[in-house]
Amino acid sequence: MNQTPIIALDFSTKEDVQQFLSNFNEKLFVKIGMELYLQVGPSIVTELKEQGHDVFLDLKLHDIPNTVKSAMRGLAQLGADLVNVHAAGGLKMMESAVEGLEAGTPAGLRRPQIIGVTQLTSTSEQQVRNEQKINLSLKESVLNYSELAKQARLDGVVCSVLEASSIKQVCGEDFLCVTPGIRLEGGDTHDQTRIATPDGARNAGSSLIVVGRAITQSANPVETYEIVKRLWEVK
Ligand code: C5P
Repeated sequence: MNQTPIIALDFSTKEDVQQFLSNFNEKLFVKIGMELYLQVGPSIVTELKEQGHDVFLDLKLHDIPNTVKSAMRGLAQLGADLVNVHAAGGLKMMESAVEGLEAGTPAGLRRPQIIGVTQLTSTSEQQVRNEQKINLSLKESVLNYSELAKQARLDGVVCSVLEASSIKQVCGEDFLCVTPGIRLEGGDTHDQTRIATPDGARNAGSSLIVVGRAITQSANPVETYEIVKRLWEVK
């Protein structure tokens, strides 16, 4: 799995995806989320893999353990490099997800890595308190979900840049912290609330960054991708 910024392909047709990718002359790390997957189906995963791209299949599964296990058994056969579940589904659900992936990975291949969504990067402190009625700070809730994910043998979590270094302190340097909510300085935040720049993410200990609209809605996506990549790679 490469470490380049993951581009969120939040499009609704294969034509839009191919039109966007035709601008690039390199192999990318792309994210297929529910918008694309639910409208075009599983073949988009195999097609992008055949084109040489790494794929993060971001379906954020959250259901009873047995259902998630069966779904993951099926997803393992698609060849995605990285998949995820909502950590809020609980320890047993996350353990079942890993079991399903192990059972479904074709012989001789490495099982996809799996991460848990802690708190969405669009979630605010007020939502945690007033809507989820969780009697913890947002950061404490994210740390709690991260420890549960680690206990369930997940490879890491999706979190915001603001929590990455604390998670690594608790769960170890090798525990993946995949961070969306990335914007260039002065860029539109859209619906995200816990955001950071690519270099901010690097300095805060993110393992991988996910960038969507800052690139896909840019007037020059390749140029913007290169800027994001340069900022991310600066040590
Ligand atoms: O356009 P933007 O860069 O905000 O896109 C972020 C992408 O990452 C979206 O596809 C969104 O679904 C996804 N994501 C997120 N926050 C999470 C998990 C996934 O924004 N916690």
